[in-house]
Amino acid sequence: MKILVLGSGAREHAIVLALCAEDAPHEILAAPGNAGIGEQATIVDVDMLDPGAVTGFAQEHGVDLVVVGPEAPLVAGVADALRERGIPVFGPGAKAAQLEGSKAFAKRIMQQADVPTGRAAHARDLDETAEALDEFGAPYVVKADGLASGKGVIVTDDRDAALAHAAAFLPQGPVLVEEFLSGPEVSLFFLSDGDTVRPLTPAQDFKRALDGDEGPNTGGMGAYTPLPWLAERFGSVAGFVDEVTRTVAEPVVRAMDEDGSPFIGLLYAGLIVTDAGVRVIEFNARFGDPETQVVLPRLETPLSRLLMSAAKGTLEDEPAPAFSDEAVVTVVLASEGYPAAPVTGREITGVEEAEGIEGVHVAHAATARVGQRLVATGGRVLNVVARGATFAEARQRAYAAMDRISLEGAHFRTDIAARVA
Ligand code: AMP
Ligand code: GLY
Repeated sequence: MKILVLGSGAREHAIVLALCAEDAPHEILAAPGNAGIGEQATIVDVDMLDPGAVTGFAQEHGVDLVVVGPEAPLVAGVADALRERGIPVFGPGAKAAQLEGSKAFAKRIMQQADVPTGRAAHARDLDETAEALDEFGAPYVVKADGLASGKGVIVTDDRDAALAHAAAFLPQGPVLVEEFLSGPEVSLFFLSDGDTVRPLTPAQDFKRALDGDEGPNTGGMGAYTPLPWLAERFGSVAGFVDEVTRTVAEPVVRAMDEDGSPFIGLLYAGLIVTDAGVRVIEFNARFGDPETQVVLPRLETPLSRLLMSAAKGTLEDEPAPAFSDEAVVTVVLASEGYPAAPVTGREITGVEEAEGIEGVHVAHAATARVGQRLVATGGRVLNVVARGATFAEARQRAYAAMDRISLEGAHFRTDIAARVA
C-alpha cells in the first residue's frame, strides 16, 4: 500500500515503524515528518494543514490511505476533504474532531451517550467560576474550552490559582469547572469506522514534568503498557477493556453518528479509575502521544489493515486487534526549559548507541538533520522505547539507552513504570 502519514512527532514515528514492521512492504510517505521518520519514509513537501493541498497530493501520487496523526489537520478539515474525494483516510472530520477540540461538545456527547464522567459546570465569568469552585470544593479543576496543547487545564488546591487560571482563559469564552476525580489514569484507544468499535490495549501516560508527578503538566513524559494492576479491580485487563468499550466507546460512537458527525478514526478515552468506577476525563480524536509509542510495539495485527478497515467502514469484518504480553516502556527526552520555554537547536548524540541495546528503539519527535548532525527542534525531542519480558527488564533497557544519549540541558523522568516493576 502507498500510505501518507501526516505529522511530525514520536507518535507518527511509532505509526511509521509499526507499518514498516508488517510482513507486506508498504511505500510510506510522510509530511512534514522528522529526522527519524525520514529514515523509514519518504518525506514529502505538502502542507498538512491545507485540505486542498493534501487531497491534491494524494490524488496525484495515487495514495491508498492517509493517516492523520495530530489534531490540527483534523480540525482544519483535512479528513473531510479527502473523504469527499473518496480517498481512504484514518481520522475524523472537523465536526467529529470537536470531541477533542471542544470540552463543551464532549460533555454534551457524553451526556447524550450517558457516559460516566465527572460533574462539571460552565462558567462565563469569575463569579460563576467562584460559585462552581465552591460547589465542587478542593482540589479545584478548571479547563479552558478549546485546544490548548495541554496548557488549558489546572488542578490545584489553591483557589486563587484556580481563579487566576479561569481569568486567563475567560476572554476566549466560558471555562469548565470540574469535580476532582481521584485515582489512577488510564488511556484506552479505540479504532472506529463510524459504526463498529475495536479497542486497542490500555496504557498509562505520565503527564507531569518531574518525578513523583510533580511539576507542570506536559504533553506526556513517558508511558507503559500493559497495566497489570487493572486485573485486580476488573478481574482481567480484558474485563476492563470490555467494560469501557460497552459503557464509553460504543455509546459515544453511536451518539456521534446520531449527531450527524460520524467518528471515523481513533477515539482516545482518557480515564480515571475512581473508587466509584471508571470516569472519562477527556476524549481525543487521535492517537495519544506517548502512549502510542508503547501500544503499537505490542500490536500483532497488521496496523495498515486495521486503519484501512476503519477508513473504509469494514471494521466489523476484522478480528479484534491482538497484542503480545511483553512489557513496553517509553521515556521522553525533553529539551532544557520544557514545557515552559524549550531551548532548541542543540546537538543530540548517542542515538545509534542507544539502539544497540537489545529491545530498544528510538522514536523521534522534535529532531532534524543539519548536515551530519542531529539537532533538537522542540520541547519533546525523542522517546526511548524499550521492550522486555518484565517491566524491570524494559525499564533497565530504557534507562541504559537514555544514558547513552546526550543533549545539553535535557531532562527526563526516572520513575516511568517504576511502580509496576
Ligand atoms: P485533560 O487535558 O482534560 O486531559 O487534563 C489534563 C490532566 O489534568 C489529566 O491528565 C489529569 O491528570 C488532570 N485532570 C483533568 N481533569 C481532571 C479531573 N476532573 N480530576 C482530576 N484530575 C483531572
Ligand atoms: N498523552 C496525552 C495525549 O496524547 O493527549
